[in-house]
Amino acid sequence: MQTLKGKHIVLGITGGIAAYKSAYLLRLFIKAGAEVQVVITPNGKEFITPATLAALSGKPVVSEFFAANTGEWHSHVDLGLWSDLMVIAPATASTIGKMANGIADNMLITTYLSAKSPVMIAPAMDLDMWAHPSTQRNIATLEHDGVEIIQPASGELASHLTGRGRMEEPEEILRRVELHFSRKESLCGKRILVTAGPTYEDIDPVRFIGNYSSGKMGFAIAEEAAARGAEITLVTGPVALHTEHPGIKRIDVRSARQMLEAAEKAFADCDAAILSAAVADYAPEHRHETKLKREKTDCLDLKLVRNPDIAAVLGMIKGERKLVGFALETDNEHDNAIGKMKKKGLDMIVLNSLRNPLAGFNKNTNQVTIIKTDGTEKEYPAKDKRDVAGDILDQLESLPGF
Ligand code: PMT
Repeated sequence: MQTLKGKHIVLGITGGIAAYKSAYLLRLFIKAGAEVQVVITPNGKEFITPATLAALSGKPVVSEFFAANTGEWHSHVDLGLWSDLMVIAPATASTIGKMANGIADNMLITTYLSAKSPVMIAPAMDLDMWAHPSTQRNIATLEHDGVEIIQPASGELASHLTGRGRMEEPEEILRRVELHFSRKESLCGKRILVTAGPTYEDIDPVRFIGNYSSGKMGFAIAEEAAARGAEITLVTGPVALHTEHPGIKRIDVRSARQMLEAAEKAFADCDAAILSAAVADYAPEHRHETKLKREKTDCLDLKLVRNPDIAAVLGMIKGERKLVGFALETDNEHDNAIGKMKKKGLDMIVLNSLRNPLAGFNKNTNQVTIIKTDGTEKEYPAKDKRDVAGDILDQLESLPGF
């Protein structure tokens, strides 16, 4: 199916070994019906020839400000206006740095600065270069500027080291581009609260009760909803994730009580809440001010007290607002999920079972069944959490009165 029919894509190619994959990516874009203009940096030409790219795209490749044979000026402004989407793959550390700082010393960066269209980049570099604080700072700047980052994958690198830095595979880049064009700005004007990650309940200054939630599911929901135009408040427990999407306001909390306080406050201005956080049901009655010493006794009694149920609190005050909860189950999944939906006053519950190896904590995938109060339910196959986020939002959007 020609999913990109009629779309104008500027494909930027920079000087990294992953440039050899750009020819295949170009072919995928063309096969999907897109019209593609390649803009390659001078270093990019050391890795892949313009002749190959021109043959595949059916257009002369642009690299310099002036055409070598005719001296004709290549207008980066015209290219920037022509583009429906600019994809830079691979994007080297140098190009990322120039983009973040507006250093327009080649045709690709001038085109980027003139582009009215959205921009995606697929970084590719050695693992230490990717992890370097300056690269991460530049990536954060680009995310803040609205550039979509197709995160590099882990694996063997050109240096023969193994780690994060490989350009994402062309098929995955194509999928992200297709998703971009199929995405609707369907949540424009909506405000949504998302909770994510675990809560940590402190025992003393060095110990806590927590769980394995990574925040991946909640962050995927926040990012997909923001991409659909919603204003998001993301209340998250301690996680190692970051998001710079301008549509997401992030509030970091630690305990269930802190999460409740932040969530209640944010919910006042929201149209819906999606509660994907794994909130601890119990917390130590007292937090010891100093580190608990190893006692002579073999047993240590910790008295735990019940935490507030954030979903149930919001369920009581929600009025016309929509409330989506999760159910993480190990047994009797279906009945437990329906019981939680009713007890907490939810409009819809997303059931994921820890019995499925492709679902749950810290995985990149999840397998869910979405159950609504009108009795309808839909079971989905295991998918990337970003796609699961899309399914959850489609279902939220279909709720009457939302
Ligand atoms: O973060 P990841 O690593 O990506 O993992 C995702 C996930 C497994 C954490 C996520 O998909 C998930 O299932 N989240 C809910 C986990 C959970 O605590 O489920 P529960 O069945 O115990 O809680 C039911 C609902 O009540 C949830 O919406 C929960 O956020 C909410 N709750 C629970 C307890 C509490 N005190 N307050 C709450 O609001």
